[in-house]
Amino acid sequence: MAPVTIAIDGPAGAGKSTVAKRVAERLNLMYVDTGAMYRAVAYLCAQEGIDVHSERDVEAVLDAHRVSFEEGEDRTLQVLIDGVNVTSKLRAPEVSALVSTVAAHPRVRQLLTEWQRAFAERHSVVMDGRDIGTVVLPHATVKVFLTAAPEERARRRMEEYKRMGYDVALEDMVQTVLERDRKDSERLVAPLRMAEDAVRIDSTDKSVESVVDEIVQLVENAHVR
Ligand code: CDP
Repeated sequence: MAPVTIAIDGPAGAGKSTVAKRVAERLNLMYVDTGAMYRAVAYLCAQEGIDVHSERDVEAVLDAHRVSFEEGEDRTLQVLIDGVNVTSKLRAPEVSALVSTVAAHPRVRQLLTEWQRAFAERHSVVMDGRDIGTVVLPHATVKVFLTAAPEERARRRMEEYKRMGYDVALEDMVQTVLERDRKDSERLVAPLRMAEDAVRIDSTDKSVESVVDEIVQLVENAHVR
């Protein structure tokens, strides 16, 4: 049987990773956080002091290091740089500040998109990101575009930062989140947008479990057809 592929796209802080991970657990699928892959490149650039605006320099640092992706014990993606697992470091604000610039470089996208497609050919997956339903997996079994009001997305991101030990004001967070959405939507290659055949889910006033239920239902319906 062909692998089941569930694509979840949407703006920053819409709850994609929490929801995608839960959907994967419920359906016993692998969860691939493609944002973590772009974050890995940004993290490496920060470590090596690379100017993220120079695509050539970003490519050169990728050539000089070994970035690899593996399936972890909990069926989530683990990111290794030169053999060291850096997954837990990728959501820091310093990485978030660089990632959209890195992700706008076509060569970086090509490299990661190829890996993502090859992986989904071999595994049933829930993949979340910005361009999964539009570019990476245009024939995904189910496509969801998950959104929430900007204030709510900023509030969620602020809570996540608090748990990591960072203190950020809500107004600053709203600006940061909107700025990243702007960069992701305006880039020329694979911009953030909803696929025509995606189902839009607004999670502003919904619990994680109710959004997960909705997506699981969509997958079940797709299988009945
Ligand atoms: O979790 P959050 O919404 O903050 O972002 P993420 O999913 O970790 O993605 C971080 C960044 O990576 C995004 O803002 C995009 O710039 C980039 N990204 C992308 O361009 N394409 C993807 N498929 C996934 C992420």
